[in-house]
Amino acid sequence: MQNVIEVTKDLYYLGGNDRRLALFESAFPIPRGVSYNSYLLLDEKTVLFDTVDLAVSELFFENLEYALGGRKLDYLIVHHMEPDHSASFLKVIEKYPEVMVITNQKVAMMLKNYFPFSGKNVRLVKEGDTLNVGSRNIAFVLAPMVHWPEVMMSFIPGDGILFSADAFGTFGALGGSIFADELPFERDFLDDARRYYFNIVGKYGAQVQSVLKKAAGLPISMICPLHGPVWRGESIGWYLGKYDIWSKYLPEERGVVLFYASVYGHTQNAAEILASEIAKRGVPVKLYDVSVTHVSELLSEAFRYSHLIFAATTYNNGLFISMENLLSDLKAHNFQGRKYALMENGSWSPQAGSLMEKTVSEWKGMEKIGETVTVLSSVKGETREKIEALAAAIAEDYKN
Ligand code: FEO
Repeated sequence: MQNVIEVTKDLYYLGGNDRRLALFESAFPIPRGVSYNSYLLLDEKTVLFDTVDLAVSELFFENLEYALGGRKLDYLIVHHMEPDHSASFLKVIEKYPEVMVITNQKVAMMLKNYFPFSGKNVRLVKEGDTLNVGSRNIAFVLAPMVHWPEVMMSFIPGDGILFSADAFGTFGALGGSIFADELPFERDFLDDARRYYFNIVGKYGAQVQSVLKKAAGLPISMICPLHGPVWRGESIGWYLGKYDIWSKYLPEERGVVLFYASVYGHTQNAAEILASEIAKRGVPVKLYDVSVTHVSELLSEAFRYSHLIFAATTYNNGLFISMENLLSDLKAHNFQGRKYALMENGSWSPQAGSLMEKTVSEWKGMEKIGETVTVLSSVKGETREKIEALAAAIAEDYKN
C-alpha cells in the first residue's frame, strides 16, 4: 500500500526504508537501517527526482503511481548513478516509456554501462542549465566526486529546494516524520550521519568544500537528500556547519580517543592505565578495542576528536592486523591534522610503534605527543612511569 508523504506544496516523498540490510555497500553495518529517498514534483510537468534501491522498489512504484494520480511522468532527473538510487531506473522507463531522462553526460554514459539502455529520450544538462516544468525552473549544479564523478544536484530557486544527492544524507531508517527538525536528530542520527559522511564522502573534503561554496550562493530553504531526513528552516545552517567542519578535516570535538589492539589483554591493560591517568588529569577520553568495533565506527570517531592514541601489539613481526586495518582505512580517507601518541607491545622484538609511526607521520599535519611507550609483554613499574609521563604530556597538550 502506498505511503506517499507531502514534503511541501507540489512535492512528494516516494522513498522507503530497509531495516534488514546487514551491510550497506557490502561494507558498513547499518543496525538502524537506511532510507532510499525519491521525490516527485507535480507542476505543469511531472518530475521524478531519482529512483530507489531494489529493496524498496515495490513500494516506490506503488507510491509513484498513486502520487501521479493518472498523470503521465514527464521527466526523470538522475543525479547519481550508484545502484542504491538507480536500480529501479530501467523499470521506470519501461513503465513510463515517454519519460524524458534529464541528466549529465557522465551519468548517461554510466546508464549505458550499467543497463541495457539505448540512450533514447535523454536530455543532457550542464552546470547552470535550467529546465522549465511550468511554474518552476529547475537549475542544475554539478558536484563531481561527492562522492562519484557524475554526481549533480538540482535546485528550484523559487521554493529554495536543493536536491543534494548523497550529500547531507545519513544512515538510519526514517519512521514517522521525514523532517530533521521534527526528529531528535542529534540523539538518534548524528553518529550515523558522521559515520556515513566520513566513510562514504570523507575522502573528498575539497570537493565537499566546493559544493558548500556553491550552496552558500543559493537561497536554500530545504534540502532533500537521497538518504535520511529532509532538512528545512534553521536546522539547515546547523547541518551545513557540521559539513563545513567535517570537510575541512577539523576535529568536531576536543577530546582524546584511544584505539588499542590487544591479543591476551596486556595491551588493553596498558591502554586502560593510560586512559585512567589521562582522565585523572581532567581530560575526557574514550577507548575502543579495534578488534571488536567495526572499522567504519573507528574511522568516524577518529575524525571526531582532536587527540588520538594508537596502542597495538606486535604480531608476526609486524603490526597487529586490526590496527593495520584501521590505519590503512584512515589513510584511504585522507585522515589528517590531529595530535597523536603511540604505545606498543611486544614479547621479544617490539615493532608495532615504529610501524605505526611510519604510517601516521606521513599523514598531513599530524603532530606527535611524547615518546612511544614500549610495553614488554605486560606493564611493570618502570613502564607504568612512562605511561604516566605520556598521560601528563597528552593532558598538558590538551589543556593548552
Ligand atoms: Fe547513496 Fe552514492 O549512493
